[in-house]
Amino acid sequence: MRTPFIAGNWKMNLTKGEAKALAAAVAEKAKDLPGVEIGIIPAFVHIACAACAIKGKSSVGIGAQDVYFEKNGAFTGEVSAAMLTDLGVKYVLVGHSERRHVIGETDALLNKKLHAVIAAGLTVILCIGEKIEQRKANQTFNVCKTQLIEGLKGLDKSKAGQLVIAYEPVWAIGTGLNATKEQAQEVHAFVRDELVKIFDAPTAAGIRIQYGGSVKASNAVELLSQPDVDGALVGGASLKIDEFAGILAAAKK
Ligand code: 13P
Repeated sequence: MRTPFIAGNWKMNLTKGEAKALAAAVAEKAKDLPGVEIGIIPAFVHIACAACAIKGKSSVGIGAQDVYFEKNGAFTGEVSAAMLTDLGVKYVLVGHSERRHVIGETDALLNKKLHAVIAAGLTVILCIGEKIEQRKANQTFNVCKTQLIEGLKGLDKSKAGQLVIAYEPVWAIGTGLNATKEQAQEVHAFVRDELVKIFDAPTAAGIRIQYGGSVKASNAVELLSQPDVDGALVGGASLKIDEFAGILAAAKK
């Protein structure tokens, strides 16, 4: 059985004080939810203070929104996987749609980042998803397949325990327009089939696939009730403790 995994991607939001307070509030809510894996993913500059705010008090894991693939050196502005490990980070997002489509990261670059995260012993959350024009052109499966194959290139199945996939249709992110439970399940089942081809059936059966895109307390139950939806990657609603707590509660099966 796959443990449900809910992660809050705080994106480029919050002051240091707000990040500490929110981390502590999530840790408090997590006490009642032993069967749910919970992560918070602050901006780089808030990782240390968020980690400090919950240290020793909670099983909530800390994530990073990005990483650079080189180990160290003259890469101004970048952050390595080793630096993240040193801060106590457990998860790293790779290929979030805002990195793909706003910053312009390619599948080839993301594959290097994925390998850097895996080599550091951290868990990678590989984000995939189609844009609205791609969905309208019936390209959803093709886009997700390419992003999976290219992103996971060279990853041995023995490392699959360090892998989470997040299906985040770009048109659902920050729009208030979530995928329906049927749309989410259809793509998640497709993703799992592709994971069978890339790895094998038992490996694919163990990989969590999160849904992301306008997840709220009010739609979490129906989305998370789908057989291949193993959790959620939450943006806006993860910044409001009551909304996020509602999503966490929905994950408790
Ligand atoms: P929203 O929940 O704000 O739509 O964002 C989703 C997301 O991008 C999480 O990574």
